[in-house]
Order: sequence, then C-alpha cells, then structure tokens
Amino acid sequence: MDENNELILAMVRYYAGDPKRINHFLKVNAFGKIIASKEKVDSRMYNIIDVATITHDIGIKVSEEKYGSSAGKYQELEGPAIAKDMLSKLEYDEGLIERTMYLIGHHHTYDNITGLDYQILVEADFLVNIYEDGMSKEAINSVRSKIFKTDTGKKLLDSMFDIKEEK
Ligand SMILES: [Fe+2]
Repeated sequence: MDENNELILAMVRYYAGDPKRINHFLKVNAFGKIIASKEKVDSRMYNIIDVATITHDIGIKVSEEKYGSSAGKYQELEGPAIAKDMLSKLEYDEGLIERTMYLIGHHHTYDNITGLDYQILVEADFLVNIYEDGMSKEAINSVRSKIFKTDTGKKLLDSMFDIKEEK
C-alpha cells in the first residue's frame, strides 16, 4: 500500500510550480487504479498501471522546452528516457521500468492498443482530458465507441458526462 508515494512526490517536484499538471496526473492515477481494480488485473499489472498513470505525461516539460510544443508525439519521444531515470533512481525493477517506458511512449497512439494496462491508461487519461479540454458530446460519443473497451471505464464515462449509450 502507498508504495508509490515517493514516485508521486518526485513527480510533484518535477512539475514544481505547475499545479495543473500535478492535478492532472493525480486524477489520471485515481481513475486508472479504480478501473484496474474493478477489472481485476493482477497485482503486477496494477502496479504498472499505478506507475504509468503517475508518470505518463513526464515528457511534456522537455517537449515544451525543446520543441515549444506539448504535442503527443513529442511527449512520446521524450518521456520514456526521463521516466527511466526517475524510476531507476527509485529502484523500480527493470521489467516494470521497460513496460512503463513503452506505455509512456505510446499513450497518445490509439490504433494499436496492446495489453489491458495500455487500454486502462488511455481510458483514464481520456476521462480526465475530456473534462479538462471541454470536449463536445459528439466528440465524447466518438471516443466512447472508438477507444473505450473496459466496462468500468465506460461506466465512469457515461456517469460523469451523462452519456446515453448509443448503438
Ligand atoms: Fe495525460
């Protein structure tokens, strides 16, 4: 329990002065853990989802500094190496670091979602981004049918945004 507290604190320090980003990853982390738990993933996958949701946008700072853009492709490019450095310092095991790097490097890529951990990270991020970006009902419905797969993710989406399931 709470084994990722040090990682959360490291991310808060990393995003110092940027409470919006800090709020963002904490919300994605909370949704990710709820979905993971309700979808009954094993403890290993749960921890990967926990770590990946905390760190998923870690590339955003360097993307803005280097390219003047927070576009997904730059984040995917820059994020994994920064996460590797942080996670290694906190002594996470190599397998977990590898998978987290993969997930960070693909979390804005939706055409080949491989694995339930990847799926849950994407759903959790959408649950927060839909609200933060003020997406239209139409756009939400499209995301629901194209991206969302887990029952828990769909239920959260439907309740939060008052979506009536369409077929
Ligand atoms: Fe995000």
